[in-house]
Parts: sequence; structure tokens; C-alpha cells
Amino acid sequence: MTVQNNASPYGTLPPASSPATRKPVSLPRLHEMHARGEKITMITAYDATFAAVADAAGVETILVGDSLGMVCQGLSSTVGVTLETMRYHVESVHRGVQRVQGTAWIIGDLPYGSYHESKEQAFRSAAVLMQAGAHMVKLEGGGWTADTTRFLVERGIPVCAHLGLTPQSVHALGGYRVQGKTEASAAQLMRDAMALQDAGATLLVLEMVPAALSAEITRALPQCATIGIGAGVDTAGQVLVLHDMLGVNLGKNAKFVRNFMAGAGSVRGAMEAYVRAVKDGSFPVNAEHAW
Ligand code: KIV
Repeated sequence: MTVQNNASPYGTLPPASSPATRKPVSLPRLHEMHARGEKITMITAYDATFAAVADAAGVETILVGDSLGMVCQGLSSTVGVTLETMRYHVESVHRGVQRVQGTAWIIGDLPYGSYHESKEQAFRSAAVLMQAGAHMVKLEGGGWTADTTRFLVERGIPVCAHLGLTPQSVHALGGYRVQGKTEASAAQLMRDAMALQDAGATLLVLEMVPAALSAEITRALPQCATIGIGAGVDTAGQVLVLHDMLGVNLGKNAKFVRNFMAGAGSVRGAMEAYVRAVKDGSFPVNAEHAW
């Protein structure tokens, strides 16, 4: 490893890809990308270095997901993740992004139990993540989260909703299963998505939802960009968990994952390949990665 004069021997953060043309991602920019049909890229990150690499690679939105419970803490589900843990990781990601070029939009995941009691509890929890450096919070759940979403949006907190497979409810759902397969559950998902758009959600993660249904939901939501994970190619954007897309998942990869590290040569190369593939529509492939 080459260490420059006065540089830390513990790793230096990467240079930006094209600093002159990169402006910080904002809510209007996300709306504008959605309206133009440009795919929105999202990746999870949990620490400063990976966040900086994602930012330099041109990923527009970084999700500090509660998946960190599984990939960083070794938990068997996301249910055990606390608000204090989320605050710590949001702060780390924020620092990493700021140290390179400060472009990426940071989304802090509200963990299990931090928004379920009341709108006021949700606001207090969201404020902790916003003060740690998040630009938006994400919360899982259907129509019952619409009032909370409206309450947060009215108070200046942008919201990313999350429908389909909602991992915090894994015990109630009976496992990590595709959602919206029956006519009734598909209709319910569509109603929930519309309610969340009406409440002011800007982004909506659709996880493990049949490709045809997620395409229909995407078309029905002009004001709220869908971000798919196992939801087919027709969503307004895509998200993958960092460890999955780098091929360092300890278990078996889900069907919707592609290992972008294979052949990429570097983590930054893998992230750049992911951005290119999402933008040009070559990832995901419905026949391979969706239901
Ligand atoms: O926590 C997380 O990483 C997520 C993604 C899987 C969307 O919610």
C-alpha cells in the first residue's frame, strides 16, 4: 500500500468520479429523475468507507438499512436492531459521504419498535436519525403507516415507505416470502401504495413483489418513485444490500441478487457496474431475478 506524506496509514477515501458534474442529490432531483424516467440507484452502506466509495461510484441514494443487524451484527433478523445502533451507523455514513464529495442522499431506516406506538414516537425517532445526518427516513408497513408518513412529511422529514416483504414483520409473514401473489393481497398492496403516495412518501421500496404487480404499482404512482428489490425491472429504481452485491453474504444469496464483484476488480468497480446496469435496464432481469 502506498502511503502519502501526512496521509493516514489506515486507508484513504476515494476521489470523486467527476466532481465538476456531480451535485448533491436533493428531493427535487429525485422527483425530476422519476418524472424523466431515469432509474434511481440505491445501495445499503453502514460505515464511512463503503459510503464514500458508493458516493464516489455515483450511487444516488445510500440506505443505512436495518439489514445491518444481519450483515454487521450477526443477528438472525432485523427485529433486534435499536434506534441507538441506527443513529451510530447513520452518523458514520454521513461522515464518509461528506469527506469525499457529499453527493449521495442518505436514508436512515427506522428500526423495529421506534415508530409503531404513535406518530409522536415516530417523529422523535426520525429526528434522531435526521440529526445524525439522514436526509430521509424509511419505515416499513402498509396503510397503517400513512398517518405517520403524513405527520413526518408535514414536519419537514422526507419519507421512504416500504411494502411487500417487510423484514421487521418476518415472524408474522412466516418467513422471507414473495408478497402480493393472490388477487386480494395484490389489491391490498396497490391500496397501501396509493395511500402512502397520498400521505406524501417520495420513495417506496417494493421488496419481493411479483414483477407484473410492481410494474402496475409503479405506473399508478406518478409522485412516488418505486425502488425495487426482487420486484422486477420496471420499478423507478433499484436497491441491493451491499454485502449481497459484493458476494460476501454468509448465507445463500436470494434469487434477486447479482454478484457485481465478480469480474469487477474492485469494490468501486462493482458499484459502478451496478449503477450502469440499473441505469441501462440490464439489471435486474425479470426471468432471472424476479417472480
Ligand atoms: O434494511 C435494508 O437494507 C432494507 C433493504 C433490503 C431495502 O430495507
